[in-house]
Amino acid sequence: MRVGLTSLFRRAAAASAVAAALPLLALLLQGQDVFAHAHVVRSEPAPGSTLVDAPDRVVIWFTEPLEPSFSEIQTLDSTGARVDNGDSAVDSSDTTVMSVSLGALADGTYTVGWKNVSTVDGHRARGSFVFSVGEASGGAAASLVVEEGLFQSPVEPVVRWLALLGALVAAGGAIFNLAVGTVARRSESPRRLRRLWTRSSLRLSAAALGVFALASAAHLVVQTSVIYEQPLGQAIGGAMVSVVMETDWGRLWLWRAGLIAVAAVVMYAQARAARSSEGGRRRNAEARLMLLSLCLWAGILATLSLTSHAAATTAIRAQAVPNDLLHLWAAAVWVGGLAHLLLLVAVTRQLAGPQRRRTLASVVPRFSLLAGLSLATLVVTGIYGAWAQVTVVEALATPYGRALLAKVAVVGGLVMLGAVNLLWVRPRLSWDDAAGRWLRRLVGVEVAAAALVILAVGFLTALEPARQVASRQGLGQPDSIVFRETVEGTGITLDVEPGEVGSNRFTVLLEDRLGAPIENASEVSVRISYLDSDLGEQVLSASPLGGGVYVVNEARFSIAGPWQAELAVRRPDAFDARTAFRFEVTAGASGSGRIAPSPETGLALLGGSLAALGVVFLAAGMPLGGMFTLRGASVMAPGVVGLLVGAALLFNGVLGGGTTGPTRNPFAPNTESLEIGGRVYYETCMTCHGVAGRGDGPGAAALESPPADLAVHVPLHSDADLFGFVSEGIAGTAMPAFGDRLTDDEIWHVVNYIKTFDE
Ligand code: HEC
Repeated sequence: MRVGLTSLFRRAAAASAVAAALPLLALLLQGQDVFAHAHVVRSEPAPGSTLVDAPDRVVIWFTEPLEPSFSEIQTLDSTGARVDNGDSAVDSSDTTVMSVSLGALADGTYTVGWKNVSTVDGHRARGSFVFSVGEASGGAAASLVVEEGLFQSPVEPVVRWLALLGALVAAGGAIFNLAVGTVARRSESPRRLRRLWTRSSLRLSAAALGVFALASAAHLVVQTSVIYEQPLGQAIGGAMVSVVMETDWGRLWLWRAGLIAVAAVVMYAQARAARSSEGGRRRNAEARLMLLSLCLWAGILATLSLTSHAAATTAIRAQAVPNDLLHLWAAAVWVGGLAHLLLLVAVTRQLAGPQRRRTLASVVPRFSLLAGLSLATLVVTGIYGAWAQVTVVEALATPYGRALLAKVAVVGGLVMLGAVNLLWVRPRLSWDDAAGRWLRRLVGVEVAAAALVILAVGFLTALEPARQVASRQGLGQPDSIVFRETVEGTGITLDVEPGEVGSNRFTVLLEDRLGAPIENASEVSVRISYLDSDLGEQVLSASPLGGGVYVVNEARFSIAGPWQAELAVRRPDAFDARTAFRFEVTAGASGSGRIAPSPETGLALLGGSLAALGVVFLAAGMPLGGMFTLRGASVMAPGVVGLLVGAALLFNGVLGGGTTGPTRNPFAPNTESLEIGGRVYYETCMTCHGVAGRGDGPGAAALESPPADLAVHVPLHSDADLFGFVSEGIAGTAMPAFGDRLTDDEIWHVVNYIKTFDE
């Protein structure tokens, strides 16, 4: 028997390795393609813009590739009539771009509405923006705002709940059988228990599989009704086929359906093998089938992770999906294990007192170990998953955030119940019959609470992630952005309103040292630029309103993210004052994801938690005999893997971010930065480049080819390029490398400084 068990574990280890490789393989096969809720990056015409000439098409760039069959742009005039030619199409060479051609537009205000379908979690995204042509006629824009419910369909959370519950109980059953159920199947245990247990655990798993299969079918109907925007009843039929064939979500659904069918066949074979009378051969067949079903469940759970919110979290997809899969497995072990434990406890009631006590006393400790380890895994992977979808504390105020808090609260209760079982019930099992009764009741309550937890998950997976809602609503963001600084004796206050994508108003208040308004500025200009990529610059000049207030009414942010505003104030009677401010522009109503989890933080978080988890597994394996016994080794081996993988990720996340260096200038060109930059420039660069950067410094004459005029050349390059020139020099010219003479910070400051020459 020991030998049989040993080889069983060995094969289980091999099979789980294969199973674990499957989802990673799927990730690789999908390549770098990332799919998520596709929101607007930018558009032409830009949201909120006023054009002199009528455009002949609307082009929108999205954050992700789109499903062509289910994506569309409509353009309406102020009466709500369509003014596009109905030829909305996704670009075939770049599926992130969608456009529609327009008829001849008269002066007026137009509304652009767009919709598309995420290829992964199948969530629909939609939005709209407004632009005007010619003199703003005052005609109101047509309303395209569709009141969207919290859920795409009210039955969706329930369907997801049932599907998940079924999947977890069936998948958890496979593990429970291997790790705990073996005790009940041992040949020294009473024959009656063996037969009863095998039969009833298979029945439970089969019922769970049935629920899973039905709920999955229902999910397809819901999905079809969401994509085609039809009532549920009409969604049944041919449209379902096109969802399955034409969307990535559908193709993964098909994989899942196929695996479910195979799992059903394997279960049937297990039931037959259990009935066969020949001991040795039966045990072999049972072991083989058990491993097969584990592999199948690995695949099925992977299809769930690949259509989860984790898969739709673009920036950190490669970390978030494996994390989600681990979370699912741990949940299966815990929730599925609890359900099967309840069954086993019920089955043992048929045994005589001493036999029952002996069985329970040997089964329950094994389960506690399993439950403890899976709980630790759930907590660790859950923290990462919550961070990936919530990201900022303010986002907890969204429906997603609340559902998450509810889930955590129920889990907390469950943990306490588990502790009572562990500390009070378990030690009494071997001598006290009442303890057995308590065990049954408490595990029953735990199973019910676990079902509640999964219900919360049904809601979570059906809701839009917290960080996206928070991004859109500007949660944790002030209504406008206000900065204050004193430069050259001039008090400058800048107010950016509303600080969202689209048209914004800049208000500049100038005051002298005594707080009196400065009304005689000859020029107040604001230069705005986007920091994460080069979208060019807008230089706007503010007009005086009196009382030291100067305004720019039409400053346009075309995209959400980090922006910089550089202010220059010219006065006849004082030095020029310049400064710069940086701020985050939110997506506003057009809805792209401003709050996004950062991959470096993700790697560090995941690495740290996996390493900690590894230590927990190692510690749990020690009392089982460490590496020298099979049981100890099967707990410690994953611990070693967790520790190694965690350390590698941590190393990557913490150090990887540092070695690449910033690609954007870490310093805004404010007074302090320009002061340092100016000092460095005069000490180091002036000899060649001259006081004003014209290439006429005292040392320039001696050079074969004189330095370029910085005022002309600098604006042609990004900050990162300029950093490179100064740090590494320019090969084949007299421009030296300053990388080892100046610190990185000094170079960034001097880059800021030489950018002030171009006026
Ligand atoms: C020994 C003289 C010398 C010194 C000192 C020097 N440069 Fe230059 N630099 C040059 C020459 C010559 C070129 C022209 C290279 C070319 O023609 O492409 C140049 C080119 C550049 C350019 C590229 C302009 C362009 O777009 O073509 C930048 C930027 C620049 N220098 C910045 C600096 C900064 C900042 C410093 C001080 C930290 C500095 N240089 C110090 C000689 C010098």
